[in-house]
Amino acid sequence: MVAVQAATLSARRQTSSARVETTLAALFDARPAPAPRLEAAMRHGLLVGGKRLRPLLVYLAGQALGADDDALDAPAAAVELVHAYSLIHDDLPAMDDDDLRRGQPTVHKAFDEATAILAGDALQALAFEVIAGTGHPRLGALIKTLAAGAGRDGMVAGQALDMAAVGQPIDVAALATMHAHKTGALIEAAVRLGGLTAVAGDDPRLDALAHYARAIGLAFQVHDDVLDVTGDSTTLGKAAGADAARDKPTYPGLLGLDGARNKAQELIDDAVAALAPLGERAQPLADLAHYIIERDH
Ligand code: IPE
Ligand code: IPE
Ligand code: MG
Ligand code: MG
Ligand code: MG
Repeated sequence: MVAVQAATLSARRQTSSARVETTLAALFDARPAPAPRLEAAMRHGLLVGGKRLRPLLVYLAGQALGADDDALDAPAAAVELVHAYSLIHDDLPAMDDDDLRRGQPTVHKAFDEATAILAGDALQALAFEVIAGTGHPRLGALIKTLAAGAGRDGMVAGQALDMAAVGQPIDVAALATMHAHKTGALIEAAVRLGGLTAVAGDDPRLDALAHYARAIGLAFQVHDDVLDVTGDSTTLGKAAGADAARDKPTYPGLLGLDGARNKAQELIDDAVAALAPLGERAQPLADLAHYIIERDH
């Protein structure tokens, strides 16, 4: 039974990754590039590596509520575009100052800082262009959802809290708020985008999905903090030990490794329980929740 479920998730992961790679590559192949160096930097930050977890969440949430894969391609690509932009900016010298990302030099190392800033800007704009191109009947809600997850109320707010917290004393509640914004918000947006593609905004199953998403989103960042302590740079594809080196507040820093792992497990249990109203079609989402805290990169 467990093996069957694992195969289901693994098959869906492969399909989701293949679909999103095709959608993303087509964005560049379809038209000439006015600025070739910018184009190369965007491709570098977007197309090479990455677990493609957020697109997978769009597909799984949409499928759980009956959406067709064809309708999910654009929102899945859009959320990965925002994520890729966030990583390029996160790695900049003014932020985390990292040299390695997805197993290759960060965009500002492979190109230069100005090009990395611009590549991030352009990827974010492209995300909204891709969503707008769907012409979906709930287009306004889709755009608002992505904007909320990405910006002032979401990821960017979390990044601002992260920068302000460097070297400062912080309690667990403030750390949870920071993580929920910098990582949870875009994960919640991914799940909501999948759900909203299938059903209207007042469908109560969207609330169950959002509850699930907030729990796995926080667990995802807690586990990212754990991997920063326990992982190695080759497996991670990014520098291990970077948080401690930069005096970043983290869950292992505040709760210890076991405390952080227990917190992540509690969140995953909560996430899986939240899926109850969705029935069997949500099983791949439950399987993915377990993977989030078992992954080694
Ligand atoms: C890394 O996200 C940044 C965080 C939010 C912790 P991922 O671990 O999903 O990175 P990729 O997309 O696989 O490179
Ligand atoms: C980044 O968190 C979250 C983003 C919004 C990109 P981290 O700074 O911990 O991500 P990594 O560890 O560099 O991938
Ligand atoms: Mg960071
Ligand atoms: Mg970072
Ligand atoms: Mg990290």
